[in-house]
Amino acid sequence: MSEAVRQDWQRRSLAAVWHPCTQMARAQDVPPLPIARGEGPWLIDHQGRRYFDANSSWWVNLFGHADPGLNDAIKRQLDTLPHVMLAGCTHEPAVRLAERLSARTGGALGHLFFGSDGASAVEIALKQSFHSWRNRGRADKREFVCLRNGYHGETIGALAVTDVAIFRDAYDPLLMRSHIVASPDQRLGNEAQALNEMRALLAERHEHIAAVIVEPLVQGAAGMSMYGPSYLKALRALCTEFEVHLIADEIAVGCGRTGTFFAWEQTVPATKADWPDFLLLSKGITGGTMALSLVLTTDEVYQAFWSQDVTRGFLHSHSYTGNPLACAAANAVLDRFDAGQLERNQQQAAWLAEAFAPLAADPRITHLRQRGMILAFDINPATTVPVERFAEKFHLAARRHELLIRPIGQTVYLMPPYLIDEAAAKFLAAAVAATLEEVVHAA
Ligand SMILES: Cc1ncc(COP(=O)(O)O)c(C=O)c1O
Repeated sequence: MSEAVRQDWQRRSLAAVWHPCTQMARAQDVPPLPIARGEGPWLIDHQGRRYFDANSSWWVNLFGHADPGLNDAIKRQLDTLPHVMLAGCTHEPAVRLAERLSARTGGALGHLFFGSDGASAVEIALKQSFHSWRNRGRADKREFVCLRNGYHGETIGALAVTDVAIFRDAYDPLLMRSHIVASPDQRLGNEAQALNEMRALLAERHEHIAAVIVEPLVQGAAGMSMYGPSYLKALRALCTEFEVHLIADEIAVGCGRTGTFFAWEQTVPATKADWPDFLLLSKGITGGTMALSLVLTTDEVYQAFWSQDVTRGFLHSHSYTGNPLACAAANAVLDRFDAGQLERNQQQAAWLAEAFAPLAADPRITHLRQRGMILAFDINPATTVPVERFAEKFHLAARRHELLIRPIGQTVYLMPPYLIDEAAAKFLAAAVAATLEEVVHAA
């Protein structure tokens, strides 16, 4: 395809498509990359140029693009039952998926409610938490707590528990008030202080607080802020002590991303009470094929809705709730984990660590960090010449090295598909180093 045709796609896209997370006036200078097809970790444009999808297309394509196994599962389901409403009907893919996920929590989270995307899962959990307290005669518990720089989506309810200024500020007047407490971000070394702050807030407001919501182990949109399971264990204990629900938003970190299927497993939960009250999945659960989200919760929350009174039920719904195609894709993803995906990820994470290790000595970068299949570092402002619009420049330069990557602020990160071999790890490290060389200069 000629350059003229490529430019025509870009022009038509800019005219007709309102792109997400994009200042469209800037997009005239940085037009979207027209992608013709995907194959494994590669995205291929109309001229046959390829780009390694280092962020798994917003963290969803766990097995890359056009995976034959996932596609087959969807095609089989397409010929059988593409959709049926889940109110008053049920179907095998939804039931199997719910049972299999519940089993992965040892039955601690035995009730699954379906949503459409990450933000709708967050809305569902907030509503279920509040409504379950209300049904138990505690309607005053209607406040929520989130962490500094936490991200939980961009619908009005999800944005209210999100602390990322660029997404939140314009809509602030529309949002319910939430409590924002210190994050245990390892770079700050303040886990004890973050827990003290949480304890103080819960001690003071627990009669009004319904739930605390966190991204376990890695705050993604904050710029891959990482912290350890010890914080989560202590937070679980605090929430139990003060009778406040704990919502684990594993939309980004679930499905093997951090080394275990659920990030929460790294707290080594010994009993049902050691699990969160809600656990949310989306993104990778269908491997980048169909939009789906899931809210897993406990017997206790579920029982709070159990009544002959319809209004005490959870009357929430989305048209595509429990869509069979999406459930079939999710079951195919779980098949991979049943067949040793976590072990394969361990090896892949080791290859990434080894390939990127030399970068740790580069004075231009700081906080090289990794948890499972997430690797990140920050540009060191003290040692480098400031780069205006760094993320955009890095993204554009990386394209020239066959790499599709979108830094967050000054943080460069990889969240690649689970398709890394030793050569791919070396390719990624070399492409990142070459991009760094072009964009970032020592002060
Ligand atoms: C932790 C977390 N929660 C919620 C969301 C929102 O998901 P969605 O974009 O599917 O609405 C995201 C998206 O990045 C996320 O990372």
